[in-house]
Formats: sequence, structure tokens, C-alpha cells
Amino acid sequence: MAKLWGGRFTKSTNKLVDAYTASISYDQELAKEDIEGSLAHVQMLGECGIVTEEEAKKIQHGLRSILKKVENGEAQFSTDMEDIHMNIEKMLIDEIGPVGGKLHTGRSRNDQVATDMHLYVRKKTSVLIDLLEDVQYALLEQAKANIETILPGYTHLQRAQPVSFAHHMLAYFWMFERDKGRLRDSVKRINILPLGAGALAGTTFPINRRRVAELLDFDGVYPNSMDAVSDRDFVVEALADCSLIMVHLSRLSEEMVLWSSQEFQFIELDDAFCTGSSIMPQKKNPDVSELLRGKTGRVFGHLIGLLTVLKGLPLAYNKDMQEDKEGIFDTIKTLEGALKLLAPILETMTVKKDRMRHAVEKDYSNATDIADYLAKKGLPFREAHAITGKMVLYAIENKKYLLDLDLAEYKQFSPLFEKDIFDALLPENVMRARESEGGTAPHQIEMQLKLAEACLHQNDSL
Ligand code: ARG
Repeated sequence: MAKLWGGRFTKSTNKLVDAYTASISYDQELAKEDIEGSLAHVQMLGECGIVTEEEAKKIQHGLRSILKKVENGEAQFSTDMEDIHMNIEKMLIDEIGPVGGKLHTGRSRNDQVATDMHLYVRKKTSVLIDLLEDVQYALLEQAKANIETILPGYTHLQRAQPVSFAHHMLAYFWMFERDKGRLRDSVKRINILPLGAGALAGTTFPINRRRVAELLDFDGVYPNSMDAVSDRDFVVEALADCSLIMVHLSRLSEEMVLWSSQEFQFIELDDAFCTGSSIMPQKKNPDVSELLRGKTGRVFGHLIGLLTVLKGLPLAYNKDMQEDKEGIFDTIKTLEGALKLLAPILETMTVKKDRMRHAVEKDYSNATDIADYLAKKGLPFREAHAITGKMVLYAIENKKYLLDLDLAEYKQFSPLFEKDIFDALLPENVMRARESEGGTAPHQIEMQLKLAEACLHQNDSL
């Protein structure tokens, strides 16, 4: 098949070269964005008198009919036409005749592909924000139902202090809120139009870039045509934002794997979201959470991959940059898959309140509260800490927990102890006592829930 750029060539392309350089197998993902960009471009060409209004209408009509084919899955793409841009241009010429060849006036594939990528990343950024919000709603529901549910809070994966399960869930809510903030911030850099930069230096045609920006709902145009065609910062930024989302997802997934294990038994995942073993009939595996955790690797890989592609590239466009696509497409697919599953997994999991409560009874996670008790009676905290340490040691040696010691034993360590120490050390009271702003006391959690809900409602009105 004749190449659209075949004029200066005397031989046909080696088949291996065709296969090696073609990107159509994956950049067909950009078909709609490519057509959207072309529709705006040709509209502007018509308005500026670069093509006649009638030609512009004809081309737009042709593009719309190709768009329909793409949407119905009827579009036939070919490797001979290398990439999505030339495939669509060829389809257009086949559909409406030689006038289709006027579409590419005043533009290059370099500013065209950059525009497609901007449109794609913008669209997917908003999809990700919505999906993150679904997960936030699920976290919020679990939090609301578990304000008084106590479980051990951990540091170093050692039981540290009892916390409310709502508090634990809301910790993730705020991670995802920051993730959404990062995505939203990035929109101001995504929403700049490269089209009109031509191959690298601008164009000789009297185009109106601002009009195209307006038609495509961009906030402005790149002020430098060389930067416009060689910038992929916004893709790197999206990959970085997605990497951090994966960090958060992997941490939550890891907790779900731990919590659903026989060792913890803090939650039970719904049967619909678990899988079995081909050999061990008793098994119910948290495969989704594990895969979610595991897929973090490929997303980090795509980020480092693109950074490496761009490093040291001379201006302006280089074919290396075609390597920007598969990584971001796979990243988006990976995140969409993960977030769509996580929301229902969180919604349907059973929180085993008794198991969690039991875990805080059989440990020393109220020790800090003994030290705080003594410090509140005037002892310097450092001394209070040392005394409490000795008490923990004494209790362990006598195979007791701190609440099992009697008042006489307490008084051996300090005369400051009174009967009220036993109340202070009950897990509920240990949790309730953490009334500082952002702490795990139920009253503080109520305030946190209000803040969280306000964030989601504020987003609704955006
Ligand atoms: N398929 C190419 C890419 O994705 C489109 C731009 C090609 N430009 C060029 N001058 N060969 O980067």
C-alpha cells in the first residue's frame, strides 16, 4: 500500500521496518482523541479561509462517519499505515476522496500526536478522580459503621496503641484525597494545546491556535512550538501520580491480606472477591488484593521507562517518543481495574469486631497510658516511662497483663497510683483519651468524618 509520505522514496519499506516502527497495534487507543483533534483543526482551517467552508464541512462529515465506525468497532486499521494518525487520514481520503488530503494542512503528526496525548491524559485523569472517589465512599461507609470498633494500632508491625477501625479506614481516605488533589493540579499543565506547532517551528499558514484551544476546551496554547512537540512532562506526571496511587493501594491491599489471614482474622473478604486453590480445598485466597499489590511493579516500571526514554533526547520530536504510549495505556488500565474492584471489596468485607477487640485485650498496648497517668500527676514523662517499662517487665515475668496487676502491685512501683488507674487502662478508655485534634477518640473521628464528607460534597459541586 502506498505510504502517505512515499513521495521521496524509490523503494518500498522493508517489511521488518514496517512492523518495527508501526504503532497502530496500540495507538488505536487514541482513535477518538485523534478525530476530536482533527475536527477542531479543520473547523479552524475553514474559519480562517485556509480551506473553504465547504471543504471543511466535507472533511468533518467524513471524520464523523469514521468516528462512528470506531465506536462500533468496525474500523479496520492497517500496519501499512503505521499509526493511528495516518490510518485515519487514509480512511478519510478513501471515504471522501482527495479533499481529505487537505486535513493535514498546517499541522504535522508531531503536534497532532502531542494533542492526542493531551486529550487522552485529560480524559483519563478525570476518570481516575471519579474512581478514587468511589473508593473513598466505600472507606467512609466502613468508617461510619466502625467508630467504636477497637483494634490494635501497629508500629513496626508490633501492637502499639489501640485505635478505632474507623480511624484506620480514614487514614486511607486522606491518602486518596491527596491523590485526587495531585491529579487535579496536573490538569493545568495537561490543558495546554500543542496543535499549531507544526513539525517543530510553527507553520506558514495563517492558523488560529487560540480558536482550536477554545474548540477543544484547552486553557491556552504552548508559547513555544519546539517545547509543544517535545514535551511529555504531563505524561511523566500522570505516571508519577499513578505510581503514588499504587503505593497507597498496595499498602491497603497488604493490610487486607494480613487482616484476612488465619493469624489476624480481623476481616473476612466476601466469597465473590476471593479465589480458591486447585489443590487445597480449604483455601480462600485474597488474590485480588495480592495482585493489586503486585501490579504496583509494572506502574513504577512505566514511570522509570518513560523518564529513561526522555532523558538526553535532543529537541524536538524524536521517534523515541512513540514509546510514551504503551506505558501510560497499561498504567491507566491497571489503575482502572484496581480501583473498580477495590470499592466493592471494601463495601462487602466483614469486619470481625470481636476478633479485633480480643486482640487489644491480650497485649501491652495500654502501657503508654500508665506513663501518661503518672506524668499527669506531675512526674517527668521520662521517669514515668522508665517506671512503666519496669512494670511491663514485671508483668511479663509474672505472665500477666497490665490490667491483671492489683493496686498493691501498682503501688510498689509508685505511690501515685490510685484505683482509677484500672479504668484508665481499659482499651475503650485508652482510645477515648486520645482527644487531640486528629486523634482516635470517637469525638475526633466524628469531626474527621465531617471533614471527609465535606471534601466529597465539595467535589460534587466542582
Ligand atoms: N506515531 C508517532 C508517535 O506516536 C506519531 C508521530 C510521528 N512523527 C514523525 N515525524 N514520524 O510518536
